[in-house]
Amino acid sequence: MKNISVLVSGGGTNLQALIDAQNNGIIKSGKINLVVSNNPDAFALGRAEKADIKALVCNKKELGTDFEDTLIKILEDNNTDIIVLAGFMCILSEKFTSHFANRIINVHPSLIPSFCGKGFYGLRVHEAALEYGVKVTGATVHFVNEIPDGGKIIMQKSVEIKDGDTPEILQKRVMEEAEWKILPLSLEKVCSEN
Ligand code: GAR
Repeated sequence: MKNISVLVSGGGTNLQALIDAQNNGIIKSGKINLVVSNNPDAFALGRAEKADIKALVCNKKELGTDFEDTLIKILEDNNTDIIVLAGFMCILSEKFTSHFANRIINVHPSLIPSFCGKGFYGLRVHEAALEYGVKVTGATVHFVNEIPDGGKIIMQKSVEIKDGDTPEILQKRVMEEAEWKILPLSLEKVCSEN
């Protein structure tokens, strides 16, 4: 059984999908034992508490340059094997990613290599997809290395763009049809193979 820690920043619907998948037996080769948020106001923290999962804040604003060292210590102190970035809106340095090489996965709301990298996060990704006029988008789960959204791809799922889509409508469809499905499946795959 792998010891899983999930890093979050906001609403935590992907965290919820992981909790549900754990309860439904889709995730069976690991257990979520810790949730850490860089943002003390993240709704995701309440989701963790409700599911009886230890929830901590590692406040990036307050910690400044000590943020990553503090986060590494929290993850090590909790014996983390696998780290999931589930709507975690901080870019991690090479020091951090190499410390946990091949043990960090991220969900990104587009088909990488489209609409990814620095500056592409959350709703902005969907705004960019609609602005470009692509007819198909989706989500990607990938390993995290020092290149933002540049690590090896684990799973992808495509989602159709429809006439009249707004960034908000598209974000919801991509979450429902892709992210909430491939994130739990990818996590189980990584836990069972490593
Ligand atoms: C999700 O769409 C996730 O893919 C995206 O932010 C949203 C977080 O929602 N992540 C990124 O853009 C990372 N580059 P959530 O907090 O409800 O899971």
